[in-house]
Parts: sequence; C-alpha cells; structure tokens
Amino acid sequence: MPRRPAALRASISDHGLPDEYTQSPDIERAELARALSVAIDQIDRNLDDYYDRFPEPSSDNLTYSPTGNTDGWTTSFWTGLCWLAYEVTGDSRYRKAAEAQFETFERRLKSGEVKTHDLGFLYTLSAIAGHRLTGNDRYQSAAVTAADYLVDRFWEAPGLIQAWGDHEASEDSWERGRMIVDSMMNLPLLFWASETTGDPTYASIAETHARTNGQHIIRQDGSTFHTFKCDVDTGKPVGGETAQGYNASSCWSRGQTWAIYGYALAGDYTGEGEYVEIAAKLANYYLSKLEDDHVPRWDFDAPPDQDIRDSSAAAIAVCGLHELTCQLPFADDRTRFYRNAALSTLGSLATDYSTEDTESNGLLTDGAYDPSDGDYDECCIWGDYFYVEGLVRATQHWTRYW
Ligand code: GLY
Repeated sequence: MPRRPAALRASISDHGLPDEYTQSPDIERAELARALSVAIDQIDRNLDDYYDRFPEPSSDNLTYSPTGNTDGWTTSFWTGLCWLAYEVTGDSRYRKAAEAQFETFERRLKSGEVKTHDLGFLYTLSAIAGHRLTGNDRYQSAAVTAADYLVDRFWEAPGLIQAWGDHEASEDSWERGRMIVDSMMNLPLLFWASETTGDPTYASIAETHARTNGQHIIRQDGSTFHTFKCDVDTGKPVGGETAQGYNASSCWSRGQTWAIYGYALAGDYTGEGEYVEIAAKLANYYLSKLEDDHVPRWDFDAPPDQDIRDSSAAAIAVCGLHELTCQLPFADDRTRFYRNAALSTLGSLATDYSTEDTESNGLLTDGAYDPSDGDYDECCIWGDYFYVEGLVRATQHWTRYW
C-alpha cells in the first residue's frame, strides 16, 4: 500500500489548477483495460456468494461479509457493479444476479424502509440501470416509487431535501431540516423521474435543492460543509456541522467529490452552465489539496498525524471530473486539466491501491468509511463501484446510469 510523502501542489496555473495537470499522464489505455479486466475477474469470483446478497459497506481485513438488503445506503453499489460487468462482458450471469438483487430492492420499497435521501443511490444503480439495460417496466415503476418517497422529504420553506431520519420526527430532532453534501448524488433519480413521467415536479424539487445546497453547503473558497441545517418553518439557515469529517469547519474529501460529480450531473440535466461552473470551482479546490499520488486524505483539514487516505473519494472524483469534461464546452481550456487529473487518479488507483495480489474480495485498498469511528484502511463498496465506473468511462463508450 502506498504511503508517499504528502506534498501540496507548488505550481498553480492561471485557472487556479495544479500546473502538472497540463500534461497528459503517462498511462496506456491498455493498462486501464487490464485493470478493468482484473476488477471484473474479482466481481466474477464474488458472484456466487453475493448472487442475491450484498457486501457490507466496508470490509474487515480487506474482506467483505455478506448482508441483506433491508437498510443502509450501499447495497446498490454491488448491483451497479453487476450491471457494469454485464455491459462490459455481455455475460448474462451478471444480469441474472442483478435481476435477483433487484427483487430485494422491490421488497425494500414495500417494507417502508425508505426514510432516507439515499433512495437516489439505491434506486439509480439498481432500478434505473436495470431499466436502461433491459427496458423492463418493473425497474421503471420501482424507480418512480423511490422518487416519490424522496420528494416527500422536501421542505418547502428552506427548499431542501432532508437527508436523514424521519422528516416528520419531532421539531427539535438533529436531523430535521438538515441537508448533506452527499445528496447531490441522489438528485439524478428526481431528474430522471421527470423525464420518464413527464411530471416536472421532481426536477423542480431537485433543482431547488441544488440551489439551496449551493448557497449553504459550499463555502466561499470552494470547500464544502458535510451537513447544514435550516429552519423548516422560516427557511432560515441554522449552521453547518460535520458527521464524518474532522470538524465543522473542515473539508471532508469524500463529500467534496460527491458535490463535484453531483453538480456536473445537475448541469447536464438542467442545461444550466451555472451548475457546471460550481462543479469546476469544487474540483479546483479538491485538486489543489491533493497529495502527490492524487488520492486525498480523508479530510483536507485533519491534523498531519492523521494521514489516512480515502481511495473511495478518489474513485468518485475520477467519475465526477470525467463528467465535468463532458459538460464543459469542448474548447474550454480547463477540460484537459480535468481529463488529465481524472486519468492520473485512475492510474494511481490501478497501480497502487488495487487489491490484486492481496487476500481480499474487494477492489480498492485504503477506503475510509468513517475514521472518527476507527473505520479506515479498508475496501468500501462504493469506492469499488466508482473505480469500475471510472475504468469503464476511460476505456469504453458508456451511457451513464446517473
Ligand atoms: N454517503 C455516505 C458516505 O459517503 O459515507
């Protein structure tokens, strides 16, 4: 596992981006294609054990244990990996596994385990991906139902979707009126629902949330709060706090990457260049804080003795930066910086963070779910998903699920 010396970028271009990203990294497409094949081989080895079960969110000694699909936000990342493997190989065994897993997502909707903004993560990679790849209406119907539950969490006065907890919970609950940066990745479910049903309400709520998030979660310097609470009656801002970062005023790197990717996607769905510019501002902050192997520390403001990396944030960044290059005008000079940064990160993950030749059933080492809780230096299932999505983006023509 890599432990290179930390070094802030010395030389900054006119765009405020690290100068080194003007150069194309020295990574052959064949190397990335090989990394994708290594990842698919591991998915294949996991297929029997996880046919209609799911890896825990993060591993223990680099080994995931199986779990069911009754709660949490991460089960769909394994299903997303099965859909990706199906697309890349055309092998129907992956599709059959994803179909078997999808039944557990249908049951979960019926069971009422839906009191979370993470419905976007859960039903984009299971149901929307399934609908895109098979055309089966069952997927579409489940995703629209999930979008309906997500819309229920919208508070009109502040214009935000509450992240956690029962949104009808007591007035003094910590969760009430609290949004979090991760929710930018849950908005594609709503944008998709408007496109598929013709009802503009879903997209309008998504856009309102994106604006509110932009006002309160994103700081002046382009860093982000993890969470921010508003008064649900008056709409007034209460303040920012962290849940998984170092402290309230720090920048949790994974949150930053959820926001980069989420705003790039919002830019595409709305056609608003303003969201793409927000994604670029967030990306500039993120890239200016990276270590020399392009993989961030779990929190950019954690003390130096907490040199804990988060490979899962790097994997999300690869996809977010790549999406940003798709949304910027072709002639925009920043495009090559973001493309080079995405490729450099992907190369670093494939070379130095892969579990190849390690005893593991995951794909990437050094994921950090929640270092404050002692949970780091492990595989994280969403990191594995975005790593493979990044490899697919870099090596294939792919229509995204988000
Ligand atoms: N969405 C929760 C996390 O990033 O840990």
